[in-house]
Amino acid sequence: MAKTSNDLMDRLVSLCKRRGFVFPSSEIYGGLGSCYDYGPLGVELKRNIKDFWWTTMTRKRDDIEGIDAAILMHPKVWEASGHVAGFTDPMVDCRTCKARFRADQLDEVRCPNKPSKSPIENNCDLTEPRMFNLMFRTFMGPVEDDSSVVYLRPETAQGIYVNFHNVLQPSRQKIPFGIAQIGKAFRNEITPGNFIFRTREFEQMEMQFFIHPSEDDKWYEYWKEQRWQYYLDLGIREEKLRFEDHGPDELAHYAKKAVDIEYEFPFGWKELEGIHNRTDYDLKAHMETSGKDMRYFDDQRKEKYLPYIIETSAGCDRTLLTVLVDAYREEEVKGEKRVVMSFSPRIAPIKVAVLPLVKKDGMPEIAREIYNDLKKNFKCFYDESGAVGRRYRRQDEAGTPFGVTVDGQTKEDETVTLRHRDSMEQDRVKIAELKNKILRELQ
Ligand code: GAP
Repeated sequence: MAKTSNDLMDRLVSLCKRRGFVFPSSEIYGGLGSCYDYGPLGVELKRNIKDFWWTTMTRKRDDIEGIDAAILMHPKVWEASGHVAGFTDPMVDCRTCKARFRADQLDEVRCPNKPSKSPIENNCDLTEPRMFNLMFRTFMGPVEDDSSVVYLRPETAQGIYVNFHNVLQPSRQKIPFGIAQIGKAFRNEITPGNFIFRTREFEQMEMQFFIHPSEDDKWYEYWKEQRWQYYLDLGIREEKLRFEDHGPDELAHYAKKAVDIEYEFPFGWKELEGIHNRTDYDLKAHMETSGKDMRYFDDQRKEKYLPYIIETSAGCDRTLLTVLVDAYREEEVKGEKRVVMSFSPRIAPIKVAVLPLVKKDGMPEIAREIYNDLKKNFKCFYDESGAVGRRYRRQDEAGTPFGVTVDGQTKEDETVTLRHRDSMEQDRVKIAELKNKILRELQ
């Protein structure tokens, strides 16, 4: 059971439910252990985060190609990668309350019988730790025996490694170059929790950069910088980010060097993304297990070798949680509380709300026309119900960066007000110039 979340998390979780960002999966049946569904605003936000990552990592570069590999892979992939033998966490049970904990996270969780204390503080009667493999197993085909076991992938990376030559040949890339992928991954976490921070089904945004082994330190440092800048471009406050190096006893089985980019969540500093020097561990393992030559012929160096890999591995759901936490603000405006989600306009789920000031005098008709025009370029929302102040507040909570209001002056001079979410300032803008002005502000 996860540590009880603090006040801010409670308010955020309730806003997510109320406004349709994220809600528990199968809620009418009581939910299912740390599985979540994304609602209308959540799905737009998630899509925008993925697009931002994809654009940064592939479209704006010439040296990274994309793929979309299958979730189910040959079981030998997971033997070669070391996941069958080594993708385990130590697990303990409490003999009294029957709760199950990760043995290495006992100070981070609460005892269900005494939620104010951790199992250690509560002197729980714990079993000896035993290793638990985090991969979900299922069976392929109608016969459920050992020969038909397959796994839901616990990382998207392996789909990239096994396709190294399939991508290399048609793309005609040369080392150094990368392969990027966004996709679902599954881990049977012993203690998921903190809302969508650690779940059993999640999406990863991973990039594997193939390099000459002699250049691993250079590219490792390069990718640390790139990925740091990415979070700043995403609009995350820099003071909430830090690097955290993995010590020798913390390194994953495949890594020579690893660093996390961490974010300061309300429940502490936690990993947001991992950057790893995976050496030639994976390609070598697949070469040995499959018998296929995974080496690369470098025509400039006149050398055949197994490339090293620098990996950047981010969780999409975890990025979304970071964006939500980082954007959440409570402010006092004219004696009233306003909740505002200050998303970077680039990733905001709705870009523009179009509002007639009142529901008469031809204003709704003009507003509809503007809405129908703007929605060709932006995700827009039309709202004519209730006082305009209330409508602005609803859009602030949704994180909509621009509000276009049609008022009495519109008919006279074909202008509207353009309201900015964070400053609440309003400019008068010609209807004909609206689209370009908003486009400029979204750059
Ligand atoms: N391919 C390397 C790899 O998977 P990882 O550090 O285990 O490395 C990378 O995971 C990222 O995936 C994490 O930084 C996190 O953002 C995300 N992630 C991992 N497990 C997760 C979980 N159970 N729930 C949500 N996101 C998770």
